This record gives sequence, C-alpha cells and structure tokens, in this order.
Amino acid sequence: MSIDTTNIPEQIIALKRRIHEQCPNITEHFRELETILAEEIDSIESASKRGESVIPEIAFSDIIANQVDDTTIKSVKRRGAVVVRNVFTKEQVSLWYEELERYLETNGYFEQDDPELDHYFSDLKTDRTQICAVYWSKPQVEARQSPNLAQTRSFLNRLWNYQENGTQYFDPDRECTYVDRVRMRQPGDTSLGLSPHIDGGSIERWLGDNYQQVYRSLFSSNWKSYNPFNGAFRPEVEGIDSPAVCRAFRTWQGWTALTKQGPGDGTLQLIPTTLSIDYVMLRPFQEDVPEDMLCGAVEGRAQAITDEWHSLLLRGLVSIPKVNPGDTVWWHPDVVHAVEHEHQGSNVSSVLYIGSAPKCDRNVRYLERQTQPFLEGRSAPDFAPEDYEIAYKNRASLEDLTELGRRQMGFNKAS
Ligand SMILES: [Fe+2]
Repeated sequence: MSIDTTNIPEQIIALKRRIHEQCPNITEHFRELETILAEEIDSIESASKRGESVIPEIAFSDIIANQVDDTTIKSVKRRGAVVVRNVFTKEQVSLWYEELERYLETNGYFEQDDPELDHYFSDLKTDRTQICAVYWSKPQVEARQSPNLAQTRSFLNRLWNYQENGTQYFDPDRECTYVDRVRMRQPGDTSLGLSPHIDGGSIERWLGDNYQQVYRSLFSSNWKSYNPFNGAFRPEVEGIDSPAVCRAFRTWQGWTALTKQGPGDGTLQLIPTTLSIDYVMLRPFQEDVPEDMLCGAVEGRAQAITDEWHSLLLRGLVSIPKVNPGDTVWWHPDVVHAVEHEHQGSNVSSVLYIGSAPKCDRNVRYLERQTQPFLEGRSAPDFAPEDYEIAYKNRASLEDLTELGRRQMGFNKAS
C-alpha cells in the first residue's frame, strides 16, 4: 500500500509511455469524453443560472420508509452528491450546537495558540482555518453514533457495488467511525476558502497499483464502462503519508449541518458530476502536457483542479443548496469540491464532519489507531497532534458510547 517516492518524474514518464502503448486511441477517448462532459457541465451551469440546484435531495424519512425512487438514485450516482434532509431534529441540533459552543468556550479553545496549519493544502488557496481541532466533544460523539446517521450511511453505502462473486469489499451496514473535526466559520471570514480539489491523494491515483486497478477501464477501449461506485480495490488504494491525508477508506465524505447555511455563507461547493474523475485521470495524457507531469498532482497533496488544466470542469463549480440544522451533505470521494472564499452571511456556519467509513480491513486497522487517542483525549490519528482536549472538561468518554457507538469505535470486536 505504499508508493516509491524516490523517482516520481521517471515513474510518470514510464507510466505515460505504457498507457500510450496500451491505449493508442487515448486522445480520441478524451475528445469523446470532453464532448459528453461539456454537455453535463452546460446543464449544471444553466441550472445554476436559473437558480436551481442539480444536487439531488432525499428526505431521511424516505430512507427509513424505503421509498427513495430509482430516478433519485440515478441522479445521486450521476452527480456523486446528495443532500439528505432532516436526519436530526432542529431541537436536537440546537442542543448540540449550544453544547459544542460551551465546550469550546469553557475549555478556552479560542484562546489557545493558533493551531499549526497542515501543509497538505499548501498549494491551495487557504489561510488560517476556522476548523476547530476538537474530536471528542459529546455532540460529535452523539451524532456519530446516532442510529439515524447509521441508517443514512447504510443506504448510501448500498449504492456502491460492495460485493461481487462471493467477495465482500466492505460491509455497507457496519461503520468504523472515522473521527474528524468541526467547522465554526464566523460571518465575514475570508480565511477558510479552499480551492477546488479532490481528496484521497493525487499522484497515487496514477502510480498506485490498487488505484490503477480502480481506474483501469478508463485506459482501455471501453472507457465508458468505468463505474465510480465499484468497490473493488477501493479499500486498499495507496496513500502517501502526509498530514491530513485520510488513511481510512471512505465511501462518502460528508457533514452534518449544525446551523442554517447556503450559497454565500462560506459553505461547500461541488462540481456535481462523477465524470470529473474520468477527465482528471485522462487529462495528463494529452499532447499539451509535459511528459513528467500529472496535471495538478503533487506528492503528499490533494489533487488540485486548476484553470490551467481543468478549465472545462471549473465551469461546473456550484455551491450546495441552502441546508438547515439537521440536514446532511454527502459527496463521493472522487468528486471535486471547494469551500467558498468568503462567508458573506450573518450567522456562524457550523458543521460536524462525519463521512462514511464502512467496515473493511483497512478501516478496522484505522480504528485500532484511534482507540487510545479517544481514551486519552488526543487528536484523531490522521490529524496534527495538537492534543488540545487532553485536559478539556466534559469531554466524551467510554461511558458516553452506546452499544452501537462502542461497536463503531471498535470496542466490541466480537459483536
Ligand atoms: Fe477536501
């Protein structure tokens, strides 16, 4: 699961030669893809101009009642993103938000030294973040272990091909809690903006053996058969160790809204099409790209989506629709996303980062790394080791975990 990082330019040159031999028509494939993608981007742009959102929405109650229709499911797969409404009640979320604010204030979070910035995003346009490096407040723990979220994740995980021919790639109904932080973005803030990117590494997508398997059909004559929801090889894709690179396997990145937020409120932006990754993967093999370059890919960094190489895609960047407290937002791990540069609204835009990391060997291994930090109040293992919460009052402990929570955190291995 690792990549030799000693001679990356040579590896890229060798890869490109091999791919050109294996797929001599790659330029024609790319042109064909460009035509299809341009139509997709046009439709996103025109909907956006009409003030409409192309990002599908599902009511949590429809998930529970098992009545999400096929058209919506198709749309979720096409867009690689979805808003699930009313997963939590406004009353519940309002209590969580108050408690989270109290937790940060009474423990002096905002009086601490500036949290050290990680360098993962250092090529992206960002400054001091307004993401709070707390992992173990009771609201976070309660939200993560809530049965409502478990049902939502289970539904979303089942949109993937999670098993084939007797092999199960992951268990869609069992979560391995991937602990992350919270966003508390103040009105007027201009420091949290994040340029468009894809997480899950960059050069790894071309140079890693498992990643090559994930994307192999894109480099064949049958490139249209590529299925972004095929779980084969995904749980074991390579990652170059770097601060803030996710070492777990996530089927969906996501967050739960604690406050109302919409376009202009410093919120999430997406390029809502799963065709983006086809474009990003094939782009470096075109004639205008230097032979040792993978456009926007730099070792140990997120995959940047840039005007220089991906201008067609960038026309499709749209803000997510307005969400209310208790709504959740989800996007496929290959979907391009960004954060609005400026928060022009009047309320704090706050979210709990909670994605979906279903049970597989990789995520079970990650849980083992996360147990001790939980018990001691240290930072979660994928993040900078600031360990602010060690001495925090009212931090969640083992007693705050429900039976489901214990299982998701890896404490009840047998069950
Ligand atoms: Fe990201």
